[in-house]
Amino acid sequence: MRIVVLTGAGISAESGVPTFRDADGLWAGHRVEDVATPEAFEHQPEVVQRFYDTRRAALAAVEPNPAHEALARLERAIGDDLLVVTQNIDDLHERAGSHRVLHMHGALLSALCVACREQVPWTGDLADQPPCPRCGAVALRPDVVWFGEIPYGMDHILEALEGCDLFVSIGTSGAVYPAAGFVQAAASYGARTLELNLEPSEGSVYFDESRLGPAGELVPAWVDQLLGR
Ligand code: APR
Repeated sequence: MRIVVLTGAGISAESGVPTFRDADGLWAGHRVEDVATPEAFEHQPEVVQRFYDTRRAALAAVEPNPAHEALARLERAIGDDLLVVTQNIDDLHERAGSHRVLHMHGALLSALCVACREQVPWTGDLADQPPCPRCGAVALRPDVVWFGEIPYGMDHILEALEGCDLFVSIGTSGAVYPAAGFVQAAASYGARTLELNLEPSEGSVYFDESRLGPAGELVPAWVDQLLGR
């Protein structure tokens, strides 16, 4: 059985990474257009760089939770039949042991050089304007996909949705396209669809089944059920 899992901020919430749209969410203290658009970066690059520098530094203090670990366990069991597509820019899936992870909104631990287009692994700050290790230009930005930009890997994702038997959405509000449309795409190709979320997402009605609760409980239980344990 081929499975595509879509994850959002909710899967990392129990690790202590703030979500975006919950009451204490990341956007509560920021206007999205001030920190997560190309225009914001053009007008106040330092504010944007510091916003992502802070989030990059915060990764050191968080750990994967049982939901990330359960998906890594599922990958060990079914290998290439699982693709995790994540909207998250943290590295908690990888740290839990998942390898087949597509970061459609980019990654905090990567910098993108706008001069030479190189994607450079990055753990430090960017606000202090380090040069690109490849071309030397002072032109590094967070390698994250901002509002108005095209997510990474869309061809690969659409192909996986077309070929999957089961689509599972975990911890995402269904507020942001194109990810919010994956459930309808998968269903139109004949996949069964399942949502695991704390509360019904905006697209909840499009799923064959919704299970409500914390990801740290629901995801391990679902993986156990799937693997017959
Ligand atoms: N377990 C499961 N679900 C949870 C948990 C939890 N412990 N905590 C919160 N949730 C759910 C919330 O109920 C909400 O539906 O996770 C969802 C988080 O939604 P958002 O904050 O909107 O995050 P996400 O869907 O990932 O946002 C999508 O929007 O801002 C952009 O680029 C950013 O990738 C992000 C995209």
